[in-house]
Amino acid sequence: MMKLILASNNAKKMKELRAILSDMDVEILSQREAGCNFEVDETGTTFAENAYLKAKAVFDATGEATVADDSGLMVEALGGEPGVYSARYAPGEHDATDKERYEYLLKKMGDTENRKAKFVSSICCLLPDGRIIRTEGECHGRILTEPCGEGGFGYDPVFMPDGYDESMAQLGTEVKNKISHRAHALAKFKEELRKTDGIDK
Ligand code: IMP
Repeated sequence: MMKLILASNNAKKMKELRAILSDMDVEILSQREAGCNFEVDETGTTFAENAYLKAKAVFDATGEATVADDSGLMVEALGGEPGVYSARYAPGEHDATDKERYEYLLKKMGDTENRKAKFVSSICCLLPDGRIIRTEGECHGRILTEPCGEGGFGYDPVFMPDGYDESMAQLGTEVKNKISHRAHALAKFKEELRKTDGIDK
């Protein structure tokens, strides 16, 4: 069975990636399970560049098919911020928590009327035959004025997807994994990968 390594050290993101890819006939390993105990510097200026950097580092170390997700939140009224800096968006230099980050975002937004935002996920997969698969997915919605719910991770408590009246953190894993940016990007990825014989159920 083909191995697929997920290039991420974010436990909650890993869990979502595993769940969304669970219908594929591949053996899924985390970066750590594959023996890569390093963090890749996200020096790119786009989601696609950072996804490639993460996938490449783990692919070079293992030689196995590797998939990476680089993702973030883009808020219209903030000119696309926090964007590629979503994981590092906070005042000061210390390692902030998710809560500190979404509180910082809410503070920056104040009572701004335009609450439109979207999550973006860029997927990059490097395959041993030299192919590179790149896909992208989005989830559109609005920024709430206060956090709601405990599920998910990152900015989920302050993001309400279009068509729903609960935050992403309230909707639950099953719904999130159908409508999220990551779900859309991975659906396209699976379609591309299916073109390789013998790796889909
Ligand atoms: P990455 O690991 O560099 O891709 O960082 C992604 C960051 O974007 C995370 O740390 C979160 O802050 C945010 N983010 C990405 N995907 C999601 C999501 O599904 N829900 C909430 N926040 C997310």
